[in-house]
Amino acid sequence: MAENTTTTTTEKKKLFIKTYGCQMNVYDSERMAEAMGGAGYETTDSPDDADMILLNTCHIREKAAEKVYSELGRFKGLKAEKPDLKIGVAGCVAQAEGEEIMRRQPMVDLVVGPQAYHRLPEMEAKTQEGVKALDTDFPEEDKFEKLKRRPKAKRAPTAFLTVQEGCDKFCAFCVVPYTRGAEVSRPVDRVLTEARDLVERGVREITLLGQNVNAYHGVHGGGDMTLAGLIWELDKIDGLERIRFTTSHPNDMMDDLIEAHGTCDKLMPYLHLPVQSGSNKILKRMNRSHDRDSYIKLIERIRTARPDLLLSGDFIVGFPEETEEDFQDTMDLIKEVRYGQAYSFKYSTRPGTPAAERPLVDPAEANDRLQRLQALLGQQQKDIQDSMVGKEVNVLYEKPGRLEGQMVGKSDYLHAVYVADPAGKIGDIKRVRIVESAANSLGGVLI
Ligand code: 5AD
Ligand code: SF4
Repeated sequence: MAENTTTTTTEKKKLFIKTYGCQMNVYDSERMAEAMGGAGYETTDSPDDADMILLNTCHIREKAAEKVYSELGRFKGLKAEKPDLKIGVAGCVAQAEGEEIMRRQPMVDLVVGPQAYHRLPEMEAKTQEGVKALDTDFPEEDKFEKLKRRPKAKRAPTAFLTVQEGCDKFCAFCVVPYTRGAEVSRPVDRVLTEARDLVERGVREITLLGQNVNAYHGVHGGGDMTLAGLIWELDKIDGLERIRFTTSHPNDMMDDLIEAHGTCDKLMPYLHLPVQSGSNKILKRMNRSHDRDSYIKLIERIRTARPDLLLSGDFIVGFPEETEEDFQDTMDLIKEVRYGQAYSFKYSTRPGTPAAERPLVDPAEANDRLQRLQALLGQQQKDIQDSMVGKEVNVLYEKPGRLEGQMVGKSDYLHAVYVADPAGKIGDIKRVRIVESAANSLGGVLI
């Protein structure tokens, strides 16, 4: 006799996550989506379809934080139409302003800080009972341990992997030490297990993430291991072809890491090493604990190890009491170093940080400096990109290009490169000669 079978298909709920800010938030959003996968959710690209909307927020500058409130305002109508819709705020604004968010936007059901998001499924269950949930703890337990079962599905060939979180540097302008907490490194074996899993799922390039990634000190055996040690362990993983890391502090650029740039083939010739300012007076007031000369000497040492390294940086203009002369020091430093990539910002007052107490530069002057700085950095970026024409690079294909038979991916130096390659597949690494430099990308031909 045939058995009676009943098939119950439970429809998955839909989760829309919007990510702001840094790459670590991109990684965290992925982990939150996976955690909610275990609670019956799948992701959607449209907030209109969602049963839950999660904003993974950034608190680094005032504008970033304000965006959260305007975005929440936009979801008000949606919530009125769909009362069962759950709205959550995660990330650094959640950490910094948890209760304030609930007060300003009563339609928010859930607020979760960056160290507590492994508890999201329990929090979501609470909201289903009509109870609001707020968790901005820095819990004892390791969120990554709680979230260690990751899905096995095939994925994109590049991935982020957080290895270190938090910051002990306390730059006078920065909220990160307050929102992300003290520096913590994940143990080496856990990073390696996650990296191997990613490679099994098709990943060929891993970018190690940390607010101060080069301060990494992961438990390994009886001792601990530096970032360079970790990179050499990753180097042994078959199928993993490229390693990158970001963001670094100049004071943590240790000898073994500099050396690895010259000796580890899988470590890509690209380094993001923010300096923020070229003025010794401002660097001191920023509490950067390095000066202009020590930074330039450091760059020289790294370039000796890896002459073709492409350097990237972060700059702040209009820091309190920055004079035109201080600003010119920054411009001179940029001319001396030559950056292939850069991120520059107008100083933004962050409540609770030491710099918030200092007198501001006239906003029109700060805007003008930012424009002049960006013009210089843009020109350098273009010159370095143009200088790639005629060179051979490896390109890791990430997606099809706009034209038929074309692929697009990143070179070793992180330039976007378009290649005519009808046989090309996502995840291939091809040797390419650069033949053309366009606005924000290069064109290459197969060799
Ligand atoms: N104002 C402007 N830029 C800031 N950054 C951090 N804090 C501030 C601030 N208060 C910039 C720094 C840092 C990058 C991530 O953001 O350049 O390296
Ligand atoms: Fe912020 Fe400075 Fe730490 Fe970077 S090093 S996260 S700028 S405090």
